[in-house]
Amino acid sequence: MTIILITYTVSTMYVCICNRLKEDMIRSLAEQGLGFEEIQAITGCSSTCGTCRSYAEDLVLSVQLRAHQSLPLRVMTSSA
Ligand code: FES
Repeated sequence: MTIILITYTVSTMYVCICNRLKEDMIRSLAEQGLGFEEIQAITGCSSTCGTCRSYAEDLVLSVQLRAHQSLPLRVMTSSA
């Protein structure tokens, strides 16, 4: 069973007006490791008119990139 927490405190701008989804909510889900398609399945983001899709995808991507930048570099070794 997967438990997904939807937490946000400060209301920011709407990302998806059709589904009343604000940036904090999308960001929170992305910070928990969900990709755009998973977020879309849970929230319905971009599933009505689709106008918000590129912004929502960019938002998720920016969260993912920020998460990767904070990870320590993995040292690659070879045994050749
Ligand atoms: S604004 Fe997101 S589906 Fe319409």
